[in-house]
Amino acid sequence: MEVTDVRYRVEVSKLIPFAAEILTKYGEDPEDAAITAEALAEADICGVRSHGFVRFGQYINRVKQGSLAVKTPVSIISESRNTALLDGHNGFGFVVCQKALEIARAKAEKSNIAFVSVKNSNHFGAAGIWASRLAGRDMVAFVGTNAEPIVSAPGGLGRAIGSNPFSWAAPAGKYGQLCLDISAGAMAQGKIWEYRRLNKPFPPHCWLGPDGVETTDPFYTDFAEFIMMPFGGHKGFGLAVMMEVFTSLLSGGPLDAEIPSLARDMDKQQHLTQFFCAISVETFRPLAEFVGDSERLIEYLHSLPVKEGAAPVMYPGEPEFISRRAALKDGLLIPETVVRELNELAESVGVAGAAQIFDQRLEMS
Ligand SMILES: NC(=O)c1ccc[n+]([C@@H]2O[C@H](COP(=O)([O-])OP(=O)(O)OC[C@H]3O[C@@H](n4cnc5c(N)ncnc54)[C@H](O)[C@@H]3O)[C@@H](O)[C@H]2O)c1
Repeated sequence: MEVTDVRYRVEVSKLIPFAAEILTKYGEDPEDAAITAEALAEADICGVRSHGFVRFGQYINRVKQGSLAVKTPVSIISESRNTALLDGHNGFGFVVCQKALEIARAKAEKSNIAFVSVKNSNHFGAAGIWASRLAGRDMVAFVGTNAEPIVSAPGGLGRAIGSNPFSWAAPAGKYGQLCLDISAGAMAQGKIWEYRRLNKPFPPHCWLGPDGVETTDPFYTDFAEFIMMPFGGHKGFGLAVMMEVFTSLLSGGPLDAEIPSLARDMDKQQHLTQFFCAISVETFRPLAEFVGDSERLIEYLHSLPVKEGAAPVMYPGEPEFISRRAALKDGLLIPETVVRELNELAESVGVAGAAQIFDQRLEMS
């Protein structure tokens, strides 16, 4: 059955303070609430809808159930000239990450390279947001998180390991940044909401049911019960395992297998672990030369021949670059289901103004 895709056009500059006000009503400090709202908006701006405001209700739910602390007093457990291990004290992952990347950048500016490891954190949304911010205009960045077990092992039964998303970013002058932001799974869990909303089948080789049977039906089982297949078989699986080394093992946090489910175990703390690695480009060569070569690499990719009817080759980060330009010019297109949830949450804590923010209803063709 065809479903009409209904969305609201929303100005980013209005949505962020609105969402931040809701978060402050739940007890988040205003500065931290702004960081959280901006990071969620950034995912939607980049077109990563699986990790934008669609998740707002999930975080609030965890706050209500006591598994996510609204205050985020990040502290330093240990540090050296170019490393640090931080404790996020179970606060909002976005706030922990923002503080961790500020420390990583400051250390890399002084010491050329920095690696900051974080424990007792929470879901940080789209990895690319953090890699992109960490890289800025002058660094190469590598960022990752661990996550609850959701990905199957090749040939295995059930859930084996987290999707452990990671992102690399590097400055690319007029093209923004080269930025690859992926998980080890064939498709991020948050995308299930979009397939359900539009009643569209999944592409093949992405999801198994709890019975281990591969399915393309987004209603085959409960949202939280789908098992993700790794991308590229043993390659994606192997990447997920090695990401545990950079996250759980280096920080001393729990293994993926010990982490409760984000979507199902609402009352259980996740104790996620993350890392932020920054390398100053100038340590190796003049920044202008590096950026010039990034642009040359992208122009080479754009010049590649493609099969008849195929779209031009894009660089990693280009879909987000295009989405960002459109969102900042024309506003965000937020699904009606998400707008409804935001409205309800705002009403429940007495935040007004939703009618003025969500005033342009569109039926997408
Ligand atoms: N926090 C978590 O626990 C968690 C878990 C899983 C995924 N995620 C996030 O979900 C999002 C989606 O993850 P995914 O694994 O489904 O990634 P994806 O398959 O959507 O791939 C996205 C990446 O591929 C690039 N890309 C897309 N099309 C391209 C093309 N034609 N040519 C070149 N590059 C192209 C994009 O620029 C981007 O870097 C990411 O932001 C990820 O960080 C978060």
